[in-house]
Amino acid sequence: MNIASTARDTACQSATLADTQLIPRQVKFDWSNAPLKWIPNDAFGSHYINHFSFTLVRGEFFFCRVFKQAMPFITDEALRHNVDVFIKQEIIHAKAHRDSIDEYLSRYGVDIASNYKRELWVFEKLLNNDPFGYKIPKSLQRQWLIFRVGIVAAAEHYTCGFGHYALNDCNWFANGADHEVADLFTWHSAEEVEHRTVAYDLYRHLGGTYSMRAEYAFSRAHFYLSDGGRHCSIGTS
Ligand SMILES: [Fe+2]
Ligand SMILES: [Fe+2]
Repeated sequence: MNIASTARDTACQSATLADTQLIPRQVKFDWSNAPLKWIPNDAFGSHYINHFSFTLVRGEFFFCRVFKQAMPFITDEALRHNVDVFIKQEIIHAKAHRDSIDEYLSRYGVDIASNYKRELWVFEKLLNNDPFGYKIPKSLQRQWLIFRVGIVAAAEHYTCGFGHYALNDCNWFANGADHEVADLFTWHSAEEVEHRTVAYDLYRHLGGTYSMRAEYAFSRAHFYLSDGGRHCSIGTS
């Protein structure tokens, strides 16, 4: 059994428990022989999931930057521990996707730079500490932090849902999907389910409200739907 399968299995077991222990698992994937259409008879599904990686790479590095900034404001030890492990898990996720997907899609002629363009605009300009170079006044900096933690909480609501769907309804292995690609997405899905409440807990701990969160959730739904479709249209031939 390889390291990815072991991580996938322990993460899947943990994801089904009510009181889960968060674990940052070190993984390694080899996509050097993976086909572009890694789900048999499902070209759209293969492309859509592949291209979701562009959002995950830039998005999850952004999650980590924001959560590190929130660390000094956490007064609950259990939450501080969970946020710390959450950051470790998300860094491993982002690196695993980046290291696997970039070379793999380039090999099939997909334009990596174009696909990262929107993610860079959203996560490294719009949602930056100083959005588009604009210095946030000191009196509003905490609110700007809570706003971005709320964006992460909304995003995590969806990644948990996607993860639950991947674990319970996709049946990739039984349907003959490429094992290395399916391993990465299954492991990631399981850890998304595993740390599903952490961003929400942090958001509430910092004083975030329900109405603000509902607005973020709506904006994230639009982002995910438009982003996936856009990537699939520009990134494949
Ligand atoms: Fe993740
Ligand atoms: Fe996550």
